[in-house]
Amino acid sequence: MRRFLAFLLLLCLPLLAGAQTLHSPDGRLALRVVVPSPDYLPSYELRRDGKLVTNGLLGLSLETNGQHIAYRSIRALDSARIDTTWTPVWGETRAIRCQYHELALTLGESAGPPPVGLIAGTVVVRFRLFNDGLGFRYEVPAQPGIGAVRVRSENTSFRFPDTATAWWLPGDYDTNEYPYTRSPLAEAGYRSAVRAPEIGLQTPTAPDDRTLQTPLLLKVPLAGKRNLYVSLHEAAQVDFPAMQLAFEPTTDGKVLRAHLTNGPIWPQVFAYLQTPAVTPWRTIVVSDKATDLLASKLILNLNEPSKITGDVSWIKPQKFVGVWWEMHVNRSKWSYSDSSNLKLANTDFSKLKPHNRHGATTANVKKYIDFAAKHGFPSVLVEGWNVGWEDWYGNWKEEVFDFVTPYPDFDVKELQQYAASKKVSLIMHHETSGSVTNYERRLPAALDFMQAHGYPAVKTGYVGRIIPRGEHHDGQWMSNHFVRVAEEMAKRKLLIDMHESVRPTGLHRTWPNWLASEAARGNEFNAWSQGNTPAHETILPFTRLMGGPMDYTPGIFQIKLDHWNKDANQGRAVHTTLAKQLALYLTMYSPLQMAADLPEAYEARPDAFQFIKDVPVDWADTRYLTAEPGEYITVARQDKNSPDWYIGAITNEQPREQTVRLDFLPKGQQFEATIYADAPDAHWDTNPMAYRITRQKVTSKSVLKLKLAPGGGAAVRLAARR
Ligand code: NOJ
Ligand code: CA
Repeated sequence: MRRFLAFLLLLCLPLLAGAQTLHSPDGRLALRVVVPSPDYLPSYELRRDGKLVTNGLLGLSLETNGQHIAYRSIRALDSARIDTTWTPVWGETRAIRCQYHELALTLGESAGPPPVGLIAGTVVVRFRLFNDGLGFRYEVPAQPGIGAVRVRSENTSFRFPDTATAWWLPGDYDTNEYPYTRSPLAEAGYRSAVRAPEIGLQTPTAPDDRTLQTPLLLKVPLAGKRNLYVSLHEAAQVDFPAMQLAFEPTTDGKVLRAHLTNGPIWPQVFAYLQTPAVTPWRTIVVSDKATDLLASKLILNLNEPSKITGDVSWIKPQKFVGVWWEMHVNRSKWSYSDSSNLKLANTDFSKLKPHNRHGATTANVKKYIDFAAKHGFPSVLVEGWNVGWEDWYGNWKEEVFDFVTPYPDFDVKELQQYAASKKVSLIMHHETSGSVTNYERRLPAALDFMQAHGYPAVKTGYVGRIIPRGEHHDGQWMSNHFVRVAEEMAKRKLLIDMHESVRPTGLHRTWPNWLASEAARGNEFNAWSQGNTPAHETILPFTRLMGGPMDYTPGIFQIKLDHWNKDANQGRAVHTTLAKQLALYLTMYSPLQMAADLPEAYEARPDAFQFIKDVPVDWADTRYLTAEPGEYITVARQDKNSPDWYIGAITNEQPREQTVRLDFLPKGQQFEATIYADAPDAHWDTNPMAYRITRQKVTSKSVLKLKLAPGGGAAVRLAARR
């Protein structure tokens, strides 16, 4: 690592007042920070090639012992230049370059006692300027007289021009499972504008109207048909509430201000800190090409290196199948009986009358294990295996699940042996039903149970309202819970996939056993709501996935869901073609990918299923080839464990042809391309399951023309000829 420290400590205020400027390593981004005078808030301005990207105010309103902390002048400056490369345990590329210029401003009181009612303190604002954007955070160092600190508000703001377009989710402290709405930024945030606002099993808690969630995507037109793509989010959200963005009322929809998720005794306090403390990084990723935004590693680079040192061979990126979609499409149920209002401690579940539609039976799980073993999947998720599903949702009850008691028709020992004999492992499921106090109490026993029965991974879930009551999925207490769970799992070498967690902020760099999160509207919404639009998957990589991988559950082949249960599904369908479901394994990067459909659906189409069997989940290299939010994405990735490349291309409702130059392939080497494409008459609504598989020899000089149907896609395997 090269680190040059230019250190300047000047207590003489006049020399330090005014503006400080920092340039990105390539010189194209310029950050200007102004600390005007003790009566005004500091501000920043970010320019790219001289043109304004955004500007705004800086600062946290902090309190200690009932007094506001004053830190209104620059006391010191510190700068650094970093250029280093690190190796993720898994990811989109084998190595990641981390290159930035840093400026740290130490703010304090210049001279004399602060005004009455204020206490003088020190706060550092640390800026890291990369070639593709800016991260900055607030730090409250250890200092005499200031220990416990309360965060009363955050002043950080971001101004954008009238002409900006936004892809947004309405503000919500408890769920991200909304469809995206595209609108001029100045019109964003109105809940009435959200199409299909149903959010499934989650309980929305709306902050003030006109609040937006991050990652927020903006497109800002420049002169000459050029555009800037900007993503606002945060990195390393630890021990701090998630940031939402609220419009400053007097600014005509141009200025967004950080709005922290409420704590239980809002409006007084949003976060409780103990010095030394740091906030998450506020991130502004900027690019003039949509493809570069998708390739940004800025958020990962702002996270701490992995805390899992030593042997990491147990952290296995993987594909899995599961007793899961069959419940979502009403073929079977999570519960064992139709009883309800049971008290967990008093209920003998073996005495309940079964409704005989339970999915997680020993016999059914064996079928999935056989299927996984036959087709090379290392693991099988089983939901509904444990008692409590009779009345798990909606009652905001403390005790619903104990995470260790199987239903009478799920023989955990027999399945452990059976799975081991087939070299398959079972993925545990912990649905907490939002009762996090109950989960934390029972976690040690639940993890002992997993280890005693050979489960190497767990999917958790946080459906419903959080207990302790008053806490939110996105608040400070829950941010600590999620990290605590990842850490506990890491201690025991267990992998984790979190559903209904706070949206990710790159923490998988620090905890690479945290393979994926959901925290957005997944494929499952197609099973029990108006579903996702065909554009949905062309937006997610620009928004939710900026923070980390998503367990989207692709791979649905039986697109029309009446096939499974006509009465219950009422014409519902997945809103893509089958070929697009294959392409999602490439366009929605995750080290954990489900083959989500039922075994029958795959066995009926073995030729298309071959792609899911082949596609890797860990990559040596990635090239985003074409992309436009809400329209299309084409990406090529090279397998980490072979010379093979794979391509995925998806579109929204518009049919299109994507021209793909294979010039990323090594020169002179021959590859066999297997192309899984939409049939000429395919259509996401009227003919979604029509696909064609063709083969051809290609080299780096070849050009593929991929035809995508409305709502369609294409997936390509490029196998090196050996
Ligand atoms: C919602 C999750 O997203 C889904 O995957 C799961 O099956 C249900 N909750 C039940 O836990
Ligand atoms: Ca969910």
